Amino acid sequence: MMTKNMFSLFILMIFVNSNVLALEIEGRRCFVQKTRQAGICMNVDNCDYAKDLLKQKPWKRPQHCGEFIGIYPLVCCPRPRSEIVCQTFHPPKEPCIKPEISGGEKSLSKEFPHMAALGYGEKSSIMWFCGGSLISEKYILTAAHCIKTKNYGMVRWVRLGDLDLATDKDDAQPQEFRVMQTHLHPKYKAPSHYHDIALVRLDRSARFSDYVQPACLHTERPVPRDMSVTGWGKAEIAGSPSSHLLKADIYYVNHTTCAAAHASVKQTRLPNGILNDIQLCAGHPEGRDTCPGDSGGPLQYKIYKFLWYF
Ligand SMILES: *[C@@H]1O[C@H](CO)[C@@H](O)[C@H](O)[C@H]1NC(C)=O
Repeated sequence: MMTKNMFSLFILMIFVNSNVLALEIEGRRCFVQKTRQAGICMNVDNCDYAKDLLKQKPWKRPQHCGEFIGIYPLVCCPRPRSEIVCQTFHPPKEPCIKPEISGGEKSLSKEFPHMAALGYGEKSSIMWFCGGSLISEKYILTAAHCIKTKNYGMVRWVRLGDLDLATDKDDAQPQEFRVMQTHLHPKYKAPSHYHDIALVRLDRSARFSDYVQPACLHTERPVPRDMSVTGWGKAEIAGSPSSHLLKADIYYVNHTTCAAAHASVKQTRLPNGILNDIQLCAGHPEGRDTCPGDSGGPLQYKIYKFLWYF
């Protein structure tokens, strides 16, 4: 009896140990020898490259990272450069699960550490009218139409790490920057809504903390169904910009539905309709949406293990 118990305990410990190890290895950087590409250790089930190798006849063995998650091996999966770089900002952490909160409501402190507020006007009276995402030490990703505005001029300021723009009594650690440089997508041409994307360079590196962290870019299709948007835009009822960062859950909308919904948008803005190759739609059945002032802000989702993707 005693021996049998000891034996099960032994098995259990091996099982637990190997899972902990797998959690540590998942998300680590690796190098795919065959293709000579940088990669990340991930569950084979999430790696199209490895799945393609296994489908070939005769099948080829993907490069192992050494551990298993359940029955699935961790394999070294080639990833785009942006994703690899982002791993250096987000070393894999122990998983933590927070309760999900839905609806257009106030964001929590440290919940969206990549969220940037873009400001216009003089230093003494900055107006915050656009959002953006921190994607590295010095760069903010935003909308091209946020760079130069008709009413407020060029974007001049960036604030990171803030929650309520109007108070310093909230749980926030704001860092403020001057805009050094802007790069618009070369094909962006106002007032068209195509290629409406730009980079803003800060005057110095951001200090990363629990309040300020870059997001990783989502680089391929498909995208998850459940996402969220954040911004300091007009709150539906109050009608004036919110000083507190707001969030709303929204859902992926397929191209057919999206194209139909935008059929009547002015020719100047979307002369070729919604382009599935370069645009992505998300919305909410109750019309929940972003508002003026939210422009440039992220569409994002949280990955179970480590990060927010843009
Ligand atoms: C797109 O979404 C609509 C509404 O959810 C659905 O009825 C339709 O079948 C979908 N079309 C495709 C091609 O998935």
